[in-house]
Amino acid sequence: MSVLNVVLYPDDPLTKTAAPVDSFGPNLAELASNMFETMYAFDGVGLAAPQVGLEMRLFVLHEPEGEKMCLVNPEIVERDGEEFGQEGCLSLPDIYVQVPRAKRIGVRAQDVYGEALEFEANDFLARIIQHESDHLDGVIFLDRVDVLTQNAMLQEWKGIRERLLATSTTGSRPRAF
Ligand code: NI
Repeated sequence: MSVLNVVLYPDDPLTKTAAPVDSFGPNLAELASNMFETMYAFDGVGLAAPQVGLEMRLFVLHEPEGEKMCLVNPEIVERDGEEFGQEGCLSLPDIYVQVPRAKRIGVRAQDVYGEALEFEANDFLARIIQHESDHLDGVIFLDRVDVLTQNAMLQEWKGIRERLLATSTTGSRPRAF
């Protein structure tokens, strides 16, 4: 297994629409395990393929003390309710903001071997899936907040990004996805 490089916003392919995955099996399983390792290395709860430079519709997630899964070609087929909650993103480290998301969702996806999955998710799990699904459409969490917050956070991010690129940082950060 290996830790992959995480792309910082707005570098390619983070603002692009990713392509459906059509090749399943051991190679995809290995990619997923590298993505899990990368996500754990950066203390994340979710990581989408575009965040490691791949234009593929796939993400991994591990809810704290909860579900661990890799979803391939996921679709959110139902959304109910709305709730604000704090989010961060491994592609915009140190930016945290309250984001509105559906409280309950219906999900259809495939696993790394192409088997169909269908389930409902609530609360934090639903939030992670919505955040990661957005990455597959070139959308980030700051696209989901009001324009004043968005502008303020993008401004703050500019400064953080410059510092990150100037000095390689290590150490633990709060949870992000
Ligand atoms: Ni993210």
